[in-house]
Amino acid sequence: MERLRVDGGGPLRGSVAVSGAKNAALPILAAGLLTAETLELSNVPALLDVSTMLALLGRMGVRTRREGAKVAIDASQVDSLEAPYDLVRTMRASILVLGPLLARFGQARVSLPGGCAIGQRPVDQHIRGLQAMGAQISIEHGYVVATASRLRGARIVTDMVTVTGTENLMMAATLAEGETVIENAAREPEVVDLADALVAMGARIEGAGSDRVVIQGVARLGGASHRVMPDRIEAGTFLCAAAATTGEVTLSCVLPDTMDATLDKLREAGATIEVGADWIRIAMTRRPKAVNLRTAPYPGFATDMQAQLMAMNTVAEGTGVVTETIFENRFMHVLELQRLGADIAIEGNTAVVRGVAGLSGASVMATDLRASAGLVIAALVAEGYTEIDRIYHLDRGYERIQEKLAGLGARIHRVT
Ligand code: EPU
Repeated sequence: MERLRVDGGGPLRGSVAVSGAKNAALPILAAGLLTAETLELSNVPALLDVSTMLALLGRMGVRTRREGAKVAIDASQVDSLEAPYDLVRTMRASILVLGPLLARFGQARVSLPGGCAIGQRPVDQHIRGLQAMGAQISIEHGYVVATASRLRGARIVTDMVTVTGTENLMMAATLAEGETVIENAAREPEVVDLADALVAMGARIEGAGSDRVVIQGVARLGGASHRVMPDRIEAGTFLCAAAATTGEVTLSCVLPDTMDATLDKLREAGATIEVGADWIRIAMTRRPKAVNLRTAPYPGFATDMQAQLMAMNTVAEGTGVVTETIFENRFMHVLELQRLGADIAIEGNTAVVRGVAGLSGASVMATDLRASAGLVIAALVAEGYTEIDRIYHLDRGYERIQEKLAGLGARIHRVT
């Protein structure tokens, strides 16, 4: 198994280009199932999760072509309406094929994802919403088995804000008969990016980016070209790494407007931040100040940035209180950060992080994608060598991370 070896203690300096967003690319790839014409995407990141989604589509008979960051999806000859357990269990976002399959073919058999390291993550809201649109759904042998002659528009109020739930229902509604209204919809920029792709395919969607999305169903969708939005979480991870190492970094290919909560916290920590239309420059000239944060749906502070900001807090001046409200088990990185010398106490869904003067390298284990990103940041700060095991988690969501960090002066290697 591959590990990352980091010789930490130096500041990050330089420029780095941010890749396309994982959490926009995955639903948009699934949206390719909604049409018999070709969907052409650019800025698709080279990630394990993207390969998994392409493999899943391939199992259904979808023809996919990938050349660098360009991907073409041709779902004109779908011959299986099933998402099997062996793929779904490696990537929960596989559930995103449920809405499109049901809407276009009137049938779907999608494995239930099962357990997850960061929380229970049920998909009941996806199922309830599709049932409201007229689908017959049962759970059989671990699979969601859904049928519908044609979905019909409905008013759906979700119990909580769910990102992939909103995306699944929005995709299903594009081909339903009549109007669908999703209330309490997720406002994440990735939902907007998916809506933009669907509109380019001929869908009629209004309100994406607000908590009320209105979709007028159409009889069919067509092919389109779409450029996947930049990854605000990858961008935020580099900014936290720069702040924690008292570095100076310029990011290109970003959308600063989608990153307010993270930028505000980094400014509060003492960073100087300048932004342009598609770039961000951060300079941290002194030890960061600890910040308090509470995760929340967009535009609140993203749960996907919690571990990275916590890593910065471990070496900050003062005490930072980190509250996780989205997932019930997203503090797995805390025990690993403690191995590097961090002073963190957990009380329920709150972690109290007392900043220490420095961390020292050790062997640590990655437990999930963003936890791994937090560990990388801590490793960049720590004096001496840190080895991070199970980095396949990192490869799921960060394109060429060690190459990009090495370009910023980090001493980082992949070892087997
Ligand atoms: N929830 C339910 N029932 C549902 C759906 C969600 O109870 O049917 C709960 C979840 O258990 C959680 C909360 O609602 O407590 C919010 O979960 P959400 O559905 O929004 O999460 P998700 O759609 O499964 C996406 C991202 C995650 C990100 C979350 C929150 C994708 C592919 N995944 O997951 O990304 O953490 O939204 O912003 O978009 C990551 O990239 O590392 C990652 C985990």
